[in-house]
Amino acid sequence: MAILPGNMIESICICGAGTMGSGIAQVCAVAGFNTVLFDVNAAMLQRSEHSIRAGLDVLAGKGKVTVDEVARILSRLRFTPDITECRADVVIEAIIENEDEKVSLFNTLAGLNPPETIFATNTSSIPVSAIGARLSNPSRLVGMHFFNPAPILRLVEVVKGTDTAEAVVNSIYDLAIRLGKTPVICNDSPGFIVNRVARPYYLEALKIVASGIATPALVDQVMEATGFKMGPFRLMDLIGMDVNYQVSTLVWDKLGRPPRLAPSDLQKQVLESGKLGRKSGEGFYIYNKS
Ligand SMILES: NC(=O)c1ccc[n+]([C@@H]2O[C@H](COP(=O)([O-])OP(=O)(O)OC[C@H]3O[C@@H](n4cnc5c(N)ncnc54)[C@H](O)[C@@H]3O)[C@@H](O)[C@H]2O)c1
Repeated sequence: MAILPGNMIESICICGAGTMGSGIAQVCAVAGFNTVLFDVNAAMLQRSEHSIRAGLDVLAGKGKVTVDEVARILSRLRFTPDITECRADVVIEAIIENEDEKVSLFNTLAGLNPPETIFATNTSSIPVSAIGARLSNPSRLVGMHFFNPAPILRLVEVVKGTDTAEAVVNSIYDLAIRLGKTPVICNDSPGFIVNRVARPYYLEALKIVASGIATPALVDQVMEATGFKMGPFRLMDLIGMDVNYQVSTLVWDKLGRPPRLAPSDLQKQVLESGKLGRKSGEGFYIYNKS
């Protein structure tokens, strides 16, 4: 299998037009790539198109890009609910955090793309090797873990699964640099590096609130006053309660269920009441729906 080096990649397809897919698509189009953004939900595609346009208009308003550049960036982006349009040099999967769904998507994509297309997953917590083990060609699957908000945060964890080919890791590493990001290569382990280190930040904060020691706003206020950019509750609202709870559950489970990392009942209650954070208009805080 001939792997395209990072400097030869021209087209990128993103699957999933939610918080992450939308931001990653913007990053790719801004960096000059022909970009297809696919989602099964047409409303999410519309919402994504609206938020990318609005974000670029803000940049134009600040004089960071010209109006002509905005038009060129948008002309490189195609939004589609049709999976047969998901053909590209690299496909970056950013759909819901569910192993079966991701495996099923990659198996469909394998039938639509040539063998050299690289498959990257933006999963936060599912081991890349576990997804790869259920694909016919695990050597072309790699983790490409962006951070939220993708257009702003520079870090990308490039995750090497047990069977990921070295050439695939190198190609995605180089692609991340072309996207203006700062890649690091990580071995495959539950939550990789950032999400493993960050787990207690959320879980201890949730325990403090659940036991009545402080409110979410107070915890955020003190953590931000010590220098953290975002307190844990504001951050959970940004990430999405569904995504954050699922990541906690998966990391805990894959690490052998240590009690200190057990998912929070409080977070589960908030999630079950439909409060997903910013994306639904309410989480630990209330937002304007956009
Ligand atoms: N939210 C974060 O802060 C964050 C950060 C890094 C990585 N991630 C990871 O990125 C992925 C996406 O997270 P998100 O926060 O963008 O989720 P999200 O809920 O905002 O969006 C998920 C999108 O996937 C779509 N989708 C679901 N199944 C699909 C399918 N089979 N084909 C195409 N589209 C499908 C949904 O319609 C939705 O638009 C997850 O794996 C998550 O763990 C999230």
